[in-house]
Amino acid sequence: MTIDPAIRFPHGDYSRVPYALYHDRAVYDAEQERIFKGPAWNFLGLEVEIPKPGDFRTSVIGDTPVVFNRGTDGKVHAFVNRCAHRGALLRREAYGNASDHTCIYHRWNYDLEGNLVGVPFQRGVNGKGGLGPDFDKRDHGLRKLRVESFAGILFTTFADETEPLRDYLGEPLVRFLEPRFGRPLAVLGYMRQRIFGNWKFYVENIRDMYHGSLLHEFQATFGISRVTYTGGTRMDPRHRHNISWGIQGTEASTAETHKMYKEANLETERLKLREMAMVDYRPEFDDQISIGICSVFPNACFQQIRNSLAARQVRPRGPDDFDLYWTILGYADDTPDMTQHRLRQSNMIGPAGFISMEDGEAVEIAHRGVKRDPAAHAVVEMGGKGEISDRDNRVNDVPIRGFWSYYAELMGMEPAGAVR
Ligand SMILES: [Fe+2]
Repeated sequence: MTIDPAIRFPHGDYSRVPYALYHDRAVYDAEQERIFKGPAWNFLGLEVEIPKPGDFRTSVIGDTPVVFNRGTDGKVHAFVNRCAHRGALLRREAYGNASDHTCIYHRWNYDLEGNLVGVPFQRGVNGKGGLGPDFDKRDHGLRKLRVESFAGILFTTFADETEPLRDYLGEPLVRFLEPRFGRPLAVLGYMRQRIFGNWKFYVENIRDMYHGSLLHEFQATFGISRVTYTGGTRMDPRHRHNISWGIQGTEASTAETHKMYKEANLETERLKLREMAMVDYRPEFDDQISIGICSVFPNACFQQIRNSLAARQVRPRGPDDFDLYWTILGYADDTPDMTQHRLRQSNMIGPAGFISMEDGEAVEIAHRGVKRDPAAHAVVEMGGKGEISDRDNRVNDVPIRGFWSYYAELMGMEPAGAVR
């Protein structure tokens, strides 16, 4: 798989991103091999989604279909969702419970650990047909994948050499995820959104704190995210992932904040909300973070926006579109009132809200905008060029450069003088 050598990062600090990376088919295909099937932990789903033996769900790694289930041993097993016989999708459902998996095409049958256990008419009929004596079912199981779990979040990898999950995530993410996801969760619902743009525009978006109160006027207006809040960005030591955080109400003066946004061409006293309960914040975490957007390389996001908790998975479908797959969460011990509050608040991000719609639109206009100029570059230097490191301000997009640095390493595209 060869990538056109003309597609390259011109600066070692990734402050310029070639537009060809978003439209080139060979780049897309190489990403599937080198990133999604490479030494990365891919978000798979949540422990709470498959509590009982036999519970299964389908998911994807990049665009490779996978199925994961809880085995009779209580452990989670994951496989490529593809029959070892003729390659048909083994499971077509989104989820279910079963004692085994049977392909509808020729009824080949697998146990919950992915071993082939049944082949109809294996010995033929009346001594004729069927498989030869040298066929060993042990050689024809499903493609098994490594699975690890952290704070109830399941990740999977194709590669034997991928480091342990906790090391992969790094301390800043562990500190954010553990209190939020590492207690009994409840799935409140799912949402899917098809976005007509390259998947990398979205994983940049979740590392781009700068846009959070500019594109999302709603967030600046109602104080959900403002550049004036105490906050910043923290990355794992390799700068693959990021947690962008902020603490509401920490600005020196609200009047001053409105004035600053006005000067920045954003009217933050225009929108009105009749149901203010939708944006109420009920503090519930010791670190006081009221907005935290956590990105995990390559394509996962875990969010706390006030009391709205969700996991997001980017499911690429080709260079030009992807599905954004949302799992909306609460806690098993939430009161009915708290569950209602979270559901109401999920409208900020959800089908009736602004955040999903606006990010989707931003991705699509960028995708359309760059299509015919593959040799030109995006500019990524908000918060400083050069070294990739944590920031204690909310006016930066440094973690985007972190994403590209690891992307380039895995893709074999690191420029001269590359920072990591
Ligand atoms: Fe956004």
